[in-house]
Amino acid sequence: MIVTTAALFKLAYGKYAIGAYNINNIEQTMGLFRGCIDSRAPFIIQLSKGARKYSDKRMIEAVIRAADEIFPEAIYAVHLDHGDEETCYDCIDSGFYSSVMIDASHHSFDENVEITKRVVERAHAKGISVEAELGMLGGVEEDIAVDEGNACLTNPDEALEFIQRSGCDSLAAAIGTSHGAYKFKGQQSLHFDVIEKIAKHIAAAGLPPVPMVMHGSSSVPKDEVRRINAAGGTLDPSACGVNEDEYLPAAKLGVTKINIDTDGRLVWTRVHREFFRDNPNEFDFRPPGKIFMDEYAKFIAAKNVKLGSAGQLDDIRAALAK
Ligand code: 13P
Repeated sequence: MIVTTAALFKLAYGKYAIGAYNINNIEQTMGLFRGCIDSRAPFIIQLSKGARKYSDKRMIEAVIRAADEIFPEAIYAVHLDHGDEETCYDCIDSGFYSSVMIDASHHSFDENVEITKRVVERAHAKGISVEAELGMLGGVEEDIAVDEGNACLTNPDEALEFIQRSGCDSLAAAIGTSHGAYKFKGQQSLHFDVIEKIAKHIAAAGLPPVPMVMHGSSSVPKDEVRRINAAGGTLDPSACGVNEDEYLPAAKLGVTKINIDTDGRLVWTRVHREFFRDNPNEFDFRPPGKIFMDEYAKFIAAKNVKLGSAGQLDDIRAALAK
């Protein structure tokens, strides 16, 4: 059942985080729904601009509609990840999306406010909520690349002003993570001080809580990278991600949506590299596809445990029925 992102946020805020998973194809969709049912978790499906273009937006949206029939127990929201203004309007007008992200963080502060405000007006008129980004993450997300030197943490004072002026419903804050497999050098941690200050500023201004979103949240498991490389990959073994044990402490401070894409891609790459290494005569893509769906479901279920969303499905259903 597709629900609003706002409803999920309201129930999860300050307690646990909802996993927001990027999907592109049938196999990921099947694994995602199965993993969330197995772990009894609500979730957010994210479609990026790239995912909507990969086959055709109608194709991936139809796949989600089919999954909705196959898994009637599932409770989830559908979200546009990293939209520009035009794509946001397309999703808002389609009637299929629960929320959109307008990513204008590469513009000046004032331009970011203005662009976000326009999207908020169009979205709210249709009951859709808007995620906006302030501060800049390093790494590559779709067609926007930000080098390390230009990445900057969100300034908590600016965050409050941005929320007040733009009217956004949730804030993607830069708290030390970056997109992709190479996030940290050495032992680094999330900037909990930034999360805490943003939440405190919002409360001190008398605003209701504004859920924060953590982009670039994959953990890039060392063992996954090792297995990919043992099966012919050449990923840099220093690849490093977010410590999964930091998800829940961040959630308790107000990070309510945690975005995961890279880790799922690593599962796909590991399964397919190992399969074709071990079965060099094989050319049927369904056997590795089936293994991938099982492995992806297990991966999703384990992630939901770390996010604290596992086991929440029945409470969410009961709260939504009230
Ligand atoms: P990762 O690259 O860490 O998976 O982050 C994905 C993301 O933030 C999508 O918006």
